[in-house]
Amino acid sequence: MIGRLNHVAIAVPDLAAASAQYRTTLGAVVRPPQDEPDHGVTVVFIDLPNTKIELLCPLGADSPIRGFLDKNPAGGIHHLCYEVDDILTARDRLKAEGARVLGSGEPKIGAHGKPVLFLHPKDFNGCLIELEQA
Ligand code: CO
Repeated sequence: MIGRLNHVAIAVPDLAAASAQYRTTLGAVVRPPQDEPDHGVTVVFIDLPNTKIELLCPLGADSPIRGFLDKNPAGGIHHLCYEVDDILTARDRLKAEGARVLGSGEPKIGAHGKPVLFLHPKDFNGCLIELEQA
């Protein structure tokens, strides 16, 4: 059911510093920051030949990644995003298998303008999973 790895997301305490490191030290193509108020984050995408890296920094007081950064002040891998062809079909199949979908269970529009859902990390080996309709 899952397809390509769309991105690996890394929560970072300093978005400008992390962006500069990827651009300069690692020599990557780094996109400009985008605020995602619906998700409580500011994101920077880094294009790699086979996938993307998503740098995440909290936006607003209720950011869902604030707690993660409190526990991991230097930053860390926050989630993996897999592509699916049909997000509602994927959601219904996962729920039938007993997986927990976070939030209301309805897809939100993600950073690429496409519907996304998140799956509970405790159901997936401790790894938060984002599904994005490709
Ligand atoms: Co993501």
